[in-house]
Amino acid sequence: MLVAEPTEPIIVSVNGTEHRLEVAGSRSLLSVLRAELGLTGAKYGCGEGECGVCTVLLEGRPVRACTTPISHAHGREVVTIEGLAEQGELHPVQEAFLEAQAFQCGYCTPGMIMEAVALLRQKPRPSELEIREAMSGHLCRCGTYSRIIKAIHLAADAMRR
Ligand code: FES
Ligand code: FES
Repeated sequence: MLVAEPTEPIIVSVNGTEHRLEVAGSRSLLSVLRAELGLTGAKYGCGEGECGVCTVLLEGRPVRACTTPISHAHGREVVTIEGLAEQGELHPVQEAFLEAQAFQCGYCTPGMIMEAVALLRQKPRPSELEIREAMSGHLCRCGTYSRIIKAIHLAADAMRR
């Protein structure tokens, strides 16, 4: 016999707005963002934490939303790609991805950008190696890696100015 998982309200701030969610705590953060909150910027790829397309920031740190239970976000702050722009202005990392044309299909782009945002907060002047290491868990099926690295250098320069 299947027994329904008891649900407790999950309180989570997403892009600055607090939500009270009546969902099972074991559901993935990605599933809740996409299906309950309509935030479809974070994508579903492997579903196993291997490709990075679902990356969002949890308390400022990049996490794989596909393998993060929503219960881990209880009482915490989540930022998704939809929450990066401020007052109608794209985040410098978003601008740099556009400038460097660092995407083709764009499927990996939200996850790449969220990881890059976290990197540049920690290391405003990352070396090429540090960028490669930070982005190494992200797969781009279109192979735009060199442009992505260029975009992160551009963003770092822009954010220091
Ligand atoms: S879908 Fe989350 S890491 Fe691939
Ligand atoms: S731009 Fe297509 S997967 Fe990266």
